Amino acid sequence: MKQYRVGIIGCTGMVGQRFATILENHPWFKVTALAASARSAGKPYKEALEGRWAMSSPIPPALADLPVYDAQKDIDQVVSLVDFVFCAVNMKSEEIMALEEAYAKKECPVISNNKQHRGTPDVPMIIPELNADHHKVIEHQRKRLGTKRGFIAVKCNCSLQSYVPAIHPLMDLGVTKVLACTYQAISGAGKTFETMPQILDNVIPYIGGEEEKSEQEPLKIWGHVEDGVIVNACSPSITSQCLRVPVSDGHMAAVFFSLEKKASVEEILERWKNFRGPAQELELPSAPRQFIHYFEENDRPQPKLDRDIEGGMAISAGRLRPDTQYDYKFVCLSHNTLRGAAGGGLLMAELLCKLGYFD
Ligand SMILES: NC(=O)c1ccc[n+]([C@@H]2O[C@H](COP(=O)([O-])OP(=O)(O)OC[C@H]3O[C@@H](n4cnc5c(N)ncnc54)[C@H](OP(=O)(O)O)[C@@H]3O)[C@@H](O)[C@H]2O)c1
Repeated sequence: MKQYRVGIIGCTGMVGQRFATILENHPWFKVTALAASARSAGKPYKEALEGRWAMSSPIPPALADLPVYDAQKDIDQVVSLVDFVFCAVNMKSEEIMALEEAYAKKECPVISNNKQHRGTPDVPMIIPELNADHHKVIEHQRKRLGTKRGFIAVKCNCSLQSYVPAIHPLMDLGVTKVLACTYQAISGAGKTFETMPQILDNVIPYIGGEEEKSEQEPLKIWGHVEDGVIVNACSPSITSQCLRVPVSDGHMAAVFFSLEKKASVEEILERWKNFRGPAQELELPSAPRQFIHYFEENDRPQPKLDRDIEGGMAISAGRLRPDTQYDYKFVCLSHNTLRGAAGGGLLMAELLCKLGYFD
């Protein structure tokens, strides 16, 4: 397989660092350009990261001395060095929209972890096991942007990454309503225990914008392609509360749901066990072999024990049982910076690569 050259925009951030580590030794992709803000630009990667490297493995040696470019000013240079970019930056919303469109219009595909284009109807938001067919809107998007090659594809919010895959295999049973309370790790805010000491012995009952994303983004994922755009699904009705908890990595969710057609616990577990999608069928390098891992033990899954299952790319669930208000309830977990962010972006890039979008 051909090797594709990749850039990381936001390479010094929490998600950017994850991209740097998971792309080390990737069979298809090789990092050839790094970019961040003017604060980091001009420095070798290791210097720009001084005191900020938050991953458990060291900075990949092949990247340590690469220069960091200014993502906004050096766009032509970055584009000349890559076949596509991953983008995860912390900037004003309008600046992110403009930055991503600027790269796409320079004929550079953008795989984004930012939220700004998630609502754009011709920008696909793909979880490869669930809605791979949404890639079809890229053709329409390219026409809108006036590009031959450039486009934007986005990764969904990390809060819904555990429960949407678990609900998905039940959708043909008519899922009518979902209630999801999430317990989210501090790396989701780009923080560590050193940079967020106020979280120790504490829970913060508000994460700005997260509940809206948890309730609305699944409807795009469950939407269908019509006339070159994604038409959102009308159901299920979803309500959520999102809390920040003192956990380094791994977002949990306590989920309740109701079905139109009744199903037994055994039938739901069987559907979870057998669930696979294009990521597995196409044998994408980062795809988990078993997407949903179910634990019979009442005290699992736990972030500390289970977030890294299948390299942090699988999700895990437990405690499925009948409920008095809804039909069923369960708990689930996904690694927020792996499957929920960089790993999910990488898997989407592998799918689009396999479909020829980076050629
Ligand atoms: N953390 C997660 O689990 C997670 C999950 C899903 C999505 N996301 C999304 O991913 C994005 C990044 O999140 P993060 O947690 O990685 O943030 P972060 O740790 O704060 O990192 C932000 C990155 O953006 C760069 N940046 C800031 N201003 C810039 C500018 N003017 N031009 C170019 N680059 C600039 C920073 O570069 P400097 O170091 O040079 O300032 C840094 O590389 C956000 O949109 C976030 O919502 C995060």
